[in-house]
Amino acid sequence: MKTVSTFQTLKENNEKIAMLTAYDYSTAKALEQAEIDGILVGDSLAMVALGYENTYNITIDEMLIFLKAVSRGAKNSFIIGDMPFMSYNLSVAQGLENASKMIKAGANAVKLEGCNEHILTLVKRCVESGIPVLGHLGFTPQLMNTIGGHKIQGKTADKIETILKSAKKLEEAGCFGIVLELMPSDSAKYITENLKIPTIGIGAGVECSGQIVVTDDILGKFTDFKPKFVKYFANLHEETLRGIKNYITEVKDGIFPSDKESFTLDSNEKDKLISK
Ligand code: KIV
Repeated sequence: MKTVSTFQTLKENNEKIAMLTAYDYSTAKALEQAEIDGILVGDSLAMVALGYENTYNITIDEMLIFLKAVSRGAKNSFIIGDMPFMSYNLSVAQGLENASKMIKAGANAVKLEGCNEHILTLVKRCVESGIPVLGHLGFTPQLMNTIGGHKIQGKTADKIETILKSAKKLEEAGCFGIVLELMPSDSAKYITENLKIPTIGIGAGVECSGQIVVTDDILGKFTDFKPKFVKYFANLHEETLRGIKNYITEVKDGIFPSDKESFTLDSNEKDKLISK
């Protein structure tokens, strides 16, 4: 069973941490079978599973439905619940209450975006209460309106130092790791080298302690857009389309269902029907 200390051990042993997202039971099962290091039930599900334009529209109660499905599919995996927009920003009490809902629903940890005094206090209180926290810096989708779009972060030495300062504060507050999103590889490398805890990159180059991407992106299932940092490891959209088209053809041609997929009526009963 993987835990927060697995992440630290992997970093200390210079072994990469491989993480992916899951929103449903069967994907979670596959990730567990493949022995993934960590599963994030990301708020990206608002876009990828529910078709919203951004992540603002998902609530904590909706996140819990997906989190429960994932925890049923991956009972022995390390699962992180992503705290959605405004589910932890109003007060420390609100953040703690919602983080505890995630844990009760099957998460082993939660993820919060950004770093300010409120977040740092909340991280400390979560950790003291037995809720491990994964930080998230660089591009933080929940702050997209403030940032002004999908902009690469940490492009100057000053900006990198600012991100590192925040990362160190999160580390001190008790985060067990930090997601670094959308920044040059050298920026993420510098931040990673100056932290004790692991960094998990997404669009942040190979020098992070580990990587996370959206499973539906790398399996070629979600194809609305393809960020530069996404590589297709499979082509599920094409494969799905092929299967659906074959199904339609076989139904229209009367090929499906065949005897193999049908139930047989006892011949005596069949005779009675014919004689009527
Ligand atoms: O919501 C999400 O999926 C994320 C990423 C880091 C993959 O936050």
